[in-house]
Amino acid sequence: MSERLKNKSAFVTGAGQGIGRGIAEQLAAQGASVTIAEINDATGQSAADELCHKGYRAQFAQVDIRSERDIKGGIAAHLARFGGLDILVNNAGANQHFDASQMSVDEWEHSMSLNLRGAWLCCKHALPVMARQESGVIINIASVHATMTAYNFFPYNVAKSGILGLTRSLALDWGHKNIRAVAVSPGWVRTKPVLDHFAQADDPAAEIERVNNLHPLKRIGEPENVGALVAFLASDGASFITGTEIVIDGGISARYAD
Ligand SMILES: NC(=O)c1ccc[n+]([C@@H]2O[C@H](COP(=O)([O-])OP(=O)(O)OC[C@H]3O[C@@H](n4cnc5c(N)ncnc54)[C@H](O)[C@@H]3O)[C@@H](O)[C@H]2O)c1
Repeated sequence: MSERLKNKSAFVTGAGQGIGRGIAEQLAAQGASVTIAEINDATGQSAADELCHKGYRAQFAQVDIRSERDIKGGIAAHLARFGGLDILVNNAGANQHFDASQMSVDEWEHSMSLNLRGAWLCCKHALPVMARQESGVIINIASVHATMTAYNFFPYNVAKSGILGLTRSLALDWGHKNIRAVAVSPGWVRTKPVLDHFAQADDPAAEIERVNNLHPLKRIGEPENVGALVAFLASDGASFITGTEIVIDGGISARYAD
């Protein structure tokens, strides 16, 4: 086990599967103790069990990031077990597509509570702890859709743009307490929603080939690619990185769609 995050603890939302699970694994492998904060108790518990089985320190806390009460409870459970909170990773979220002329206010509220408000609420309850410690790192998982988008990605892209604004404000307003905030914007990553997209295509093999070929690297990303970046950003090696966005997309956004 690497010692880069030794004596650090991390609270990772949506870590039962996908990118969040990849992040939790990489943080644990670098020495951090991890709370898997997840709405799904089956995947959340199994992710925590798997980390413990590998000899890492981890626990599951059932948290719906749309609920402030759940977030308070999850962070309290984290502090009770690990004694502090060094790394918050706001990862939970889901891509939802609506017609802007048809979407109801309830659908809007649901989408924003999942993809934007939840991240702020986790910050709200982590910041006092980090301020007392005079150290902390908040990593917000945004998306390439935060700065550009594709047809029919409303309002997911709106929420992810908000994540960048949240990150900048956190960096400015809490830097004097030695708290850093960084947004990580992945492109295509091999997770269940992406695999579902491929499976639902008329010709899945052709769609996989099309998407791979959009990338200069001719492949989509893996959850551990994002996890490795997050582990670096959480470490002292990244101590001068704050208030910015790091894109991890295999070069897809370097390409003009000609
Ligand atoms: N996969 C990609 O290509 C991709 C690209 C860019 C950004 N992202 C972002 O990465 C993050 C993770 O995406 P993923 O692809 O791993 O998705 P995923 O659906 O595989 O995993 C999301 C996890 O979040 C959990 N979750 C959902 N709602 C929750 C809630 N209310 N409270 C707590 N947990 C909840 C789910 O149970 C699941 O374990 C999201 O924010 C997504 O927008 C993903």
